[in-house]
Amino acid sequence: MPYDFGILTDRRNTNSLKWDVGENILPMWVADMDFKTAPEIIKAIQEKVGKGILGYTIVPDDWYQSISSWWERRHNFKIDKEWLIFCTGVVPAISSAVRKMTSVGENVLVQTPVYNIFFNSIVNNGRNIVENKLLYDGKEYSIDFKDLENKLSDPQTTMMILCNPHNPIGKVWDKEVLKRIGELCLKYHVLVLSDEIHCDLTYTQYEYIPFASVSEICEKNSITCIAPTKAFNIAGLQTAAVVIPNEILRHKMNKALNTDEVAEPNAIAIEATIAAFTKGENWLNELRLYLEENIKFVKKFMESELPELYLIPAHATYLLWVDCRPVTKDTSSLCKFLLEETGLYVSNGESYGKAGRGFIRINIACPKERLEDGITRLKKGIKLYQSNLN
Ligand SMILES: Cc1ncc(COP(=O)(O)O)c(C=O)c1O
Repeated sequence: MPYDFGILTDRRNTNSLKWDVGENILPMWVADMDFKTAPEIIKAIQEKVGKGILGYTIVPDDWYQSISSWWERRHNFKIDKEWLIFCTGVVPAISSAVRKMTSVGENVLVQTPVYNIFFNSIVNNGRNIVENKLLYDGKEYSIDFKDLENKLSDPQTTMMILCNPHNPIGKVWDKEVLKRIGELCLKYHVLVLSDEIHCDLTYTQYEYIPFASVSEICEKNSITCIAPTKAFNIAGLQTAAVVIPNEILRHKMNKALNTDEVAEPNAIAIEATIAAFTKGENWLNELRLYLEENIKFVKKFMESELPELYLIPAHATYLLWVDCRPVTKDTSSLCKFLLEETGLYVSNGESYGKAGRGFIRINIACPKERLEDGITRLKKGIKLYQSNLN
């Protein structure tokens, strides 16, 4: 079935977080897409709603099966049924894990710049953020392993939140890197929480490797969060899964999720997830091609029209990470300026930690026509900003 990602969907006045903005504002910030989800998912939801009863819901065998076979088929990782627990979201699972698996006052390590909500899960629960800043050589990012080992070796550090693929830099960590992280974490008794929510949005030539699949060490010392929500654009349905091969960790995590009351699905989350992982494959394959074309378009545009900005080469996600430092390090003021002068609403890199200062994040998951509008506004805004500086 051909899918049309070029349709200019209108999300204004739909209670959309992203689109709850003024008439002239073009939102390219929060990570949800302007495409309708797969028709196969809509059909499954409609059938469920059509039955007219939306009572309490169980997690059926088909849910486990749909996830297991997707991961085995697409990511070469066999997930046993008993390793999986339903959760209403990746962030609720992370916060629960922080509460259950670490103590107040301990350190949770993150690799900045990183998805900002990790900071909330740590700080709101009375734990400390420890940053292993990613190294940036002006072209791409890598891990500072010396610093990582140093911080993991602190007995106060008890958990590391890994982001794979990494938001916002769009990097897929390779097997060697994951293996090394796994070994270091085991050595220093640090539990790995791997957030793999963006894993189905890799670009065609890149492969995501599930952290738990890398070695027995990684498998036994990890909690992995996965979900259909980013790839299929159903974040508002609040559905995710936690994968825990280690029986003792699973026992504790199961209790944690139930104590926090985040282990029960709403009436349509299950149907949507099963439809995504059993019938959504063609749609997803086409979506990824569309997103890649969007990225190519932005890259080409920036190289010719905005050479002062540098687009960090990425392997995954529809979130572009752009180095604006030749123009300004003050991306707070730049983002405010772009919004006020052009209506373009992008994310300030500083929200992802101090290491993100001088960068912006742009969500390009929208029809090409809208993207062209956004990128034209970006050009106009940057040129205006520069002329004001001079
Ligand atoms: C890395 C990462 N983790 C988690 C989330 C949110 O997950 P959820 O909506 O399932 O809580 C996002 C959303 O952008 C994300 O980028």
